[in-house]
Amino acid sequence: MAGVLANKIAIVTGSSSGLGRAIAVAFAEAGAYVVCADIGASPPKMSVAELVQSQETSLPTHELLEARWPSSSQPRATFVTCDVSMAADVAKLIDNCIARYGTLDIMVNNAGIAPEAMFPSSFRVHEFPEDVWDRTMAVNGKGTWLGCKYAVRQMLRQEPRFSDRGWIINIGSVAAVSGQPVLIAPKSAFADSQTRAIAMEYAHDRIHVNCIHPSFTGTSMLQPMMLRDGVEVVKAALEKDHPWGRLGRPEEIAAMAVFLASGSASWITGQAFTVDGGYTAH
Ligand SMILES: NC(=O)c1ccc[n+]([C@@H]2O[C@H](COP(=O)([O-])OP(=O)(O)OC[C@H]3O[C@@H](n4cnc5c(N)ncnc54)[C@H](O)[C@@H]3O)[C@@H](O)[C@H]2O)c1
Repeated sequence: MAGVLANKIAIVTGSSSGLGRAIAVAFAEAGAYVVCADIGASPPKMSVAELVQSQETSLPTHELLEARWPSSSQPRATFVTCDVSMAADVAKLIDNCIARYGTLDIMVNNAGIAPEAMFPSSFRVHEFPEDVWDRTMAVNGKGTWLGCKYAVRQMLRQEPRFSDRGWIINIGSVAAVSGQPVLIAPKSAFADSQTRAIAMEYAHDRIHVNCIHPSFTGTSMLQPMMLRDGVEVVKAALEKDHPWGRLGRPEEIAAMAVFLASGSASWITGQAFTVDGGYTAH
């Protein structure tokens, strides 16, 4: 897919790990310049190497992009510290992108947390601590909304540099479309309904808003479950649930993000795409 995002400027939140890191890598490989945003630049110290197929895990994402796809005109990637649940941080993130690159073409609202993965698998809603719900809503729900709000605000100020004015991609979860015990999943619910609503609001401005629902993918998000129940037990159970017979790989979610940010998605908006090894097909 080399070149399909040539010279587009992208922000990827939650870029230091897992899907965000894979999306940042895939975007740079496709020719984009990437503003990497996360609460910290370093990849997670604990690794799930048994599951994660990605190559270098030690370099911060923006340094990896700079090393692999150097550009003579401007930095291939840069890092901005950002807590997506804080409006001031998200506004500053967009300002940083504009100061560095002058424009914003693609916004990927990927940052997320899954604290429920630390609770026993038998946990149910009546046992759930309210403060955990609040924090999850703040990061997964409000964080995505803030990302849409400030990205759209910037995109409306710009004349389209490519065929359209902007591309927003929200990362949800298959939990939006299938019942998942213990998964509180506010992000997936948000990603589905708000993606459609925001897409309707800005279609005439030629801003695409789409969403990806990944199923279980080998990232550090699965680590608490594995620490709790054992890597092999969790892996075997999840593999059984996926007709394709294995967990997803971060680059498989990233490939869909590249497509949705590219000119090939010219007539696609307000849609949710499951990338799930057949998980939701049965
Ligand atoms: N891995 C899966 O199986 C899976 C399945 C469905 C959906 N998802 C979704 O994919 C997205 C990425 O998850 P992942 O699997 O790569 O997890 P991950 O834990 O590997 O990465 C999440 C990243 O988000 C960052 N982050 C957390 N809180 C933040 C905040 N407040 N502000 C900015 N950054 C923050 C973390 O530092 C981390 O780098 C999440 O939204 C998650 O809900 C993942």
